[in-house]
Amino acid sequence: MSDSQPLLLRAARGESVERPPVWMMRQAGRYMKIYRDLRDRHPSFRERSENPDLSYEISMQPFTAFQPDGVILFSDILTPLPGMGINFDIVESKGPLIEDPIRNIQQVNDLRALEPKDSMPFVGEVLTRLRETVGNKAAVLGFVGAPWTLAAYVVEGKSSKNYSIIKAMAFQEPELLHKLLNHFANSIATYLRYQIDSGAQVVQMFDSWAGQLSPIDYDTFAAPYQRKVIELVKSTHPETPMILYISGSAGVLERMAQTGVDIVSLDWTVDMADGCNRLPKNVGIQGNVDPGILFGSPDAIRDRILDTVRKAQGRKHILNLGHGILPGTPEENAKVFFETGKNINNLLGKTN
Ligand code: CP3
Repeated sequence: MSDSQPLLLRAARGESVERPPVWMMRQAGRYMKIYRDLRDRHPSFRERSENPDLSYEISMQPFTAFQPDGVILFSDILTPLPGMGINFDIVESKGPLIEDPIRNIQQVNDLRALEPKDSMPFVGEVLTRLRETVGNKAAVLGFVGAPWTLAAYVVEGKSSKNYSIIKAMAFQEPELLHKLLNHFANSIATYLRYQIDSGAQVVQMFDSWAGQLSPIDYDTFAAPYQRKVIELVKSTHPETPMILYISGSAGVLERMAQTGVDIVSLDWTVDMADGCNRLPKNVGIQGNVDPGILFGSPDAIRDRILDTVRKAQGRKHILNLGHGILPGTPEENAKVFFETGKNINNLLGKTN
């Protein structure tokens, strides 16, 4: 099968496939000892994600260890910000910090349109190298943060519990926020095109914090900008499957499918059978095993994967977690996850 297109790409395009492909959000990172060792030698997150040799090496760590069906670029949703004039850092145990949070119209007017070739050539280089290395053994995944989630970081200035600063902006100065969201939508579309041109075969948009919005506000501040990114990218790159992820999306699942995205990535708080029933048949589903299950026994992990895959049978399904793998997860349990996914036909046969 090695001369056919990668399984994940074929599945994402809606072809009928031999089994659901499997990868994991945050599959490169702190749960792996080899990553923690590299982090000790290179303590700066910006360096790890912006030095192409390091970003490439880290992207390859889970592929070498587990052979998942997808290899995701090691980077961050915040990585494009400096190219628009917003500086940031990611600080151990604090998370992302924005140097000069965006609070007024002057700052929004001063933002630059992203020119990824100039400001982030390392991303293109890494994606191209990943494609050369993995060939058809796996699909190379690119990703971006969606406008609402990027705005939440740059307005709040850091991770937030209740999003009061950006919500104050939304309800006091909506034009200001819309201007910011629109800027991000255009630049993020440009960035996705650059990732695809460089080698990304499937792309995922993370609107991680859009689940914090009431559905009526999701329709105003999140969905239109998700849709804009999707439409802009599809107008030039119609063949590239697009996945949309939101954390805490149960209240807006149907709305996610209406953005024009090909695949909705479900978190684990929705049962896979309910998720399938709530989404149109032509929309694929990714997910949605609770990352916490990976702290359980191998049998518990297998049972949950079987339950998830059975419930999604007959649908376009990509097996994944419902959010990123958690730091502290035993590596051998990550291995059980991938191995179970790849061996699913035998396991289904035994228990059907
Ligand atoms: O999936 C992958 O393997 C690719 C790597 C990846 C990272 N960040 C590396 C990273 C991806 C896809 C992201 C996306 C991202 N970044 C999102 C969307 C996904 C999600 O989780 O909802 C968000 C919201 C961010 C912002 C961000 N970056 C946060 C909140 C943090 C701190 C998290 C924490 O637990 O400390 C980061 C830092 C970050 N990005 C880490 C990694 C591996 C951890 C820091 C480190 O390894 O030193």
